[in-house]
Amino acid sequence: MKWSSITAVATGLVGTAAAQAESVPYTDAETGIAFQQYPSTDGIQFRVALPETIEPGQPYDVILQIEAPKSLGWVGWAWAGQMTYNPLTILWPNGDQVMHSSRMAFGYSPPSAYPDATYQILKGTGITGDTMKFTALCKGCSSWTDFTGEPFTVDASQEARFAYAFSANPVATPSDNTSTFSIHDSVGHWYHDLPAAKSASFDEWVAKNTVAGNGTGAAGINVNAGLGVAGLRRAPLRFMERVRRDLGADVGTRLEERRKETRAVAML
Ligand code: HEM
Ligand SMILES: *[C@@H]1O[C@H](CO)[C@@H](O)[C@H](O)[C@H]1NC(C)=O
Ligand SMILES: *[C@@H]1O[C@H](CO)[C@@H](O)[C@H](O)[C@H]1NC(C)=O
Repeated sequence: MKWSSITAVATGLVGTAAAQAESVPYTDAETGIAFQQYPSTDGIQFRVALPETIEPGQPYDVILQIEAPKSLGWVGWAWAGQMTYNPLTILWPNGDQVMHSSRMAFGYSPPSAYPDATYQILKGTGITGDTMKFTALCKGCSSWTDFTGEPFTVDASQEARFAYAFSANPVATPSDNTSTFSIHDSVGHWYHDLPAAKSASFDEWVAKNTVAGNGTGAAGINVNAGLGVAGLRRAPLRFMERVRRDLGADVGTRLEERRKETRAVAML
């Protein structure tokens, strides 16, 4: 074994040992949902609840909840712990409403709309006092197509590395979920305990907290068009096909650059 490989293995082991979950149990009084919560040092709480049974490698729904000061311009959650090539859940205040926007970034540049993650707003969404709170069932937050074009699913049998970002600058057009916004003031990463986020009450929580109205006003309930599990699995691929078509050969070049970067990092 070459010395560099030994170093890589040792670094990998240190990385694993350091991956202690930073989430804690939290029950939201408004919805009765028992989440695993990451209380970030920036005063933003990131919460997840999962179904009890998740088959390895299969897409699954998540209930997410984000609570943040309404003074923020926007807040984002990155589902693979990085800015690029993973679903981004973005929130911002719009008057007394909480807007949500589904995005994906293909570089360190403003993220595009990402139609393959959909959000069904649940009770526990709105602005109270100085706090904005968003609660939703997300289909497509836990699986997608990665930058090599392969299906990727967040492994719910262990801790997951997530990331967040936020800015104090308001988005350009708060009433529009496709609004542009400017770069974050800060980003952070954490490890979330997913096994502890699983519960047999998942379906009951969704049913109990389903709201008739549109929850966030203009943001609306993003009613899912009834994609079955098979549909969900195919959806991200269809999206990547559209990206490839729109960007043409360029995306291939970018993917190859990313592979080289990844290999370079792996060799460090
Ligand atoms: C206009 C929008 C955005 C711009 C221009 C932008 C730009 C950038 C740039 C240039 C970096 C690299 C910084 C460095 O390596 O020193 C970065 C890193 C990062 N950004 Fe963004 N960003 C934007 C939106 C977002 C959003 C919505 C998220 C959602 C969570 C996000 C999450 C991250 C994270 C986690 C990093 C750290 C590196 C990584 O893990 O990939 N960014 N961003
Ligand atoms: C904006 O909201 C509409 C209606 O709910 C939804 O179909 C669309 O996907 C959303 N766009 C983004 C970028 O989230
Ligand atoms: C959502 O509800 C609010 C308040 O009832 C209403 O003003 C708004 O037009 C609704 N938006 C949509 C997209 O239905």
